[in-house]
Amino acid sequence: MAEDRKTNNVELKDIANLCKRRGFIFQSSEIYGGIGSVWDYGPLGVELKNNVKGQWWKSMVYDRNDIEGLDAAILMNPEVWKASGHVTSFADLLVDCKECKKRFRVDKIKGRSCPECGGELTEPKSFNLMFKTQVGSVEGSAIDVYMRPETAQGIFVNFENVLNSSRRKLPFGIAQIGKAFRNEITTGNFTFRSREFEQMELEFFVKPDEADKWYEFWVNERLNWYTSLGIRKENLRLREHEKDELAHYAKRCHDVEFSFPMGWSELEGIANRGDFDLKQHSSLSGRDLVYFDDAQEKSYMPYVIEPSGGVDRAVLAFLVDAYRSETVRDRKRIYLSIDNRLAPIKVAVLPLLKNRPEIVEMAHKIRDDLKGNYRVVYDDTAAIGRLYRRQDEIGTPYCLTVDVDSLSDGKVTIRERDSMDQDRVDVSKVKEILRERLAL
Ligand code: GAP
Repeated sequence: MAEDRKTNNVELKDIANLCKRRGFIFQSSEIYGGIGSVWDYGPLGVELKNNVKGQWWKSMVYDRNDIEGLDAAILMNPEVWKASGHVTSFADLLVDCKECKKRFRVDKIKGRSCPECGGELTEPKSFNLMFKTQVGSVEGSAIDVYMRPETAQGIFVNFENVLNSSRRKLPFGIAQIGKAFRNEITTGNFTFRSREFEQMELEFFVKPDEADKWYEFWVNERLNWYTSLGIRKENLRLREHEKDELAHYAKRCHDVEFSFPMGWSELEGIANRGDFDLKQHSSLSGRDLVYFDDAQEKSYMPYVIEPSGGVDRAVLAFLVDAYRSETVRDRKRIYLSIDNRLAPIKVAVLPLLKNRPEIVEMAHKIRDDLKGNYRVVYDDTAAIGRLYRRQDEIGTPYCLTVDVDSLSDGKVTIRERDSMDQDRVDVSKVKEILRERLAL
């Protein structure tokens, strides 16, 4: 798999270590020993994740004029999951090893005996991945409900609501970002496969005879979204699903794959779901979820093209791709070469000497003038070299340094993260210069 590791030879453990140390991602409930494959986003992680979601929302809802947004609830009427096929089909086939008692997914150990100890395996059993909980407080009358395993169904069951309230015509889409839950069996690889995660999903409704055209369009569009935000082309590829790996609802599906440290893995899937979902919900709910086409003077069920991406996987890919390690004057420098729009902190203001009150005061004032539109921090808790390294490691594009000369000439040093180039600029121009360079 050596040729697969084009991502700076960074290991997932380096990323996990950086994430914990610097406050991107923590294990959930860590003080109690944690809980398997559930993660918390710390002060920097929440900024990065919000920026990723913001860019997705911008590209879908603000930069286009054929997509509406939605924020549906996590809990839904359980009939939804019967109609969608999740109650019967959203399951993994599992086998247990009679010797070591470990549990494996049949599709992962295809054609092999037990991977760990060679022990005899049980017959495969089906294991549904949906988490169940109960709604209602009265014992006996409570009903079982599921934590949604995909956000998509919230869109399908609101198809009529959105169509009627927005008076849209085909083609149009509904975009949603939100939590999804799966009781995953095969975990590991940091946040790659989590039990609680976020999805960014678009359901794009089209005339059936235009589905192929829109499918091609969205496959390319989604691949380009990742490269437009800085992921290197050689670390991305498209892979079409074989017939036998297609989900129960899909006619066709392409995965956008990223060259993660553990090998090429799925970032996002783009599927042609046909009219599977609207048909199923129409038949189980009794509501006719059709579209009336004025021009053709008839009603029909639209087809759906669905680009479905994982927020956590995108965050992980952006971190892996941005991670750089180099030796500068015998010292190792780690930096995140991440797009300005995604960087958690855009600017750090640093005083060269913290025991000179005038310098500290000037630095505070610059920080206060800049704050408001993006995250800007002040730090004086170490010598300047170390302060730069700290900001490099978390991907801060620009550092502003206030020194003794600043007090007399009114200029500060701007240092750029990747090149480490520095230039001196007038304090009065800093805001404008940063606005241009950050190009947010
Ligand atoms: N609505 C279609 C759907 O849910 P999926 O391929 O099962 O399709 C879409 O999921 C995306 O959600 C995946 O490409 C991945 O990025 C993300 N995803 C799925 N399961 C995940 C998990 N356990 N942890 C993190 N991300 C996950």
